[in-house]
Amino acid sequence: MSTNPLDNPLDRKSQAWSALFSEPMSELVQRYTASVFFDKRLWQADIQGSLAHARMLSAQNIISVQDLASIERGMAQITQEIESGAFDWKLALEDVHLNIEARLTQLVGDAGKRLHTGRSRNDQVATDVRLWLRGEMDLIAGLLVELQKALVQIADKNVEVILPGFTHLQVAQPVSFGHHMLAYVEMFARDGQRLADVRKRVNCLPLGAAALAGTSYPLDRDMVARALGMVDESGQPQVCQNSLDAVSDRDFAIEFAAAAAVCMVHISRLSEELIIWMSQSFGFIHIADRFTTGSSIMPQKKNPDVPELARGKTGRVVGHLMGLITLMKAQPLAYNKDNQEDKEPLFDTVDTLKDTLRIFAEMVGGITVKPEAMERAALKGYATATDLADYLVKKGLPFRDAHEVVAHAVKSASATGVDLSELPLAVLQSFNPTIEADVFEALSLRGSLNARSTLGGTAPVQVRAQIARHRARLAA
Ligand code: ARG
Repeated sequence: MSTNPLDNPLDRKSQAWSALFSEPMSELVQRYTASVFFDKRLWQADIQGSLAHARMLSAQNIISVQDLASIERGMAQITQEIESGAFDWKLALEDVHLNIEARLTQLVGDAGKRLHTGRSRNDQVATDVRLWLRGEMDLIAGLLVELQKALVQIADKNVEVILPGFTHLQVAQPVSFGHHMLAYVEMFARDGQRLADVRKRVNCLPLGAAALAGTSYPLDRDMVARALGMVDESGQPQVCQNSLDAVSDRDFAIEFAAAAAVCMVHISRLSEELIIWMSQSFGFIHIADRFTTGSSIMPQKKNPDVPELARGKTGRVVGHLMGLITLMKAQPLAYNKDNQEDKEPLFDTVDTLKDTLRIFAEMVGGITVKPEAMERAALKGYATATDLADYLVKKGLPFRDAHEVVAHAVKSASATGVDLSELPLAVLQSFNPTIEADVFEALSLRGSLNARSTLGGTAPVQVRAQIARHRARLAA
């Protein structure tokens, strides 16, 4: 029977790391310092990192090929145990790393104890988090594409649907509903770019930094980086170049949280619009019933719970960014246990963002647009006033003067509660004699929309061009 405390973790009174300690940890301290009940989520990355490390140790003749074979066999069994739910996670073994290593040693003996040669939990955990996060970021990138595709699709169906565009939530100018949806496509496209950029810095190898200073063993860090796919676009291995920095900084996690927070803010803005548009006062859209809930007291209610929750969850993701960045503040080099606190906010950020993107891609596909309600609203707030000013400019008036003429016209129309287009030609001419019958085309919603054909404008011809660009980009 081995005397190594790792072999019989539950029998021993001291902790996994050493015989140095003369008294056991209290139950409370053990629970306070342990992370296994959340960081066990990193198990796949932990095993992947350990196997890459072990293969390199063997290639460098630091451990034997037999030891490597034993480690591989042990890890295969552990994988199967974890996947089947049979693995016995032990709080006394503190974290995912010590749990897996202890089980490995139980299974394969001394070979298991050799795995940690030239390695520390400090570079191990930094590697695990990076590997795990990289995988999640790739999933998130895919979900962002799905959401953009859904938005492009609804945009495509509604290029000619006109709603009032708002500034200050006051009716401003008519815009195409397709154009409005494409505004969010732009936001989510940038979110995707931001993630792709952060990924480059996530995808860099800490292993080899050991506890903080590097190690005396002749490790081949490039080999490990290659094995773990930590390479740049040209296939060059990406290895953290300073051991102190490698084990201690979590800026990659902060950057990810920042990108996630920005993305959630975009989701939250969209949520706010869906909620407003679905209200009785607007009535612009209908969200499929499966994304809404009823009220326990008011039988008539259909509440947009999904967008409301997404708006609410944005607060929590922004909070995680604050948590992570504050966690890093004032930490001296190198590793400090503070960093164990990076995991829960990171995990929750990933979960929240993934769930939200998934549900939004589905929900956008379930939106019913009500074009009549939108057009009715667009006809209300003098949305084509700018078009009258532009018309006068074409007749030779300086824009500022035209602006003044239109202000008088709007004042007069609103006194009688009619739209500019409903004023008789003679009345319009009383504000400026250059006005002719063709003004009514300029004052129509459609005329206004068609006129805004600068690149990136709301004219259907521009919106269609943008849809084509997005389709090509998203392969949709
Ligand atoms: N559970 C630890 C963490 O998440 C692993 C690293 C522990 N290292 C140490 N020196 N105590 O950060």
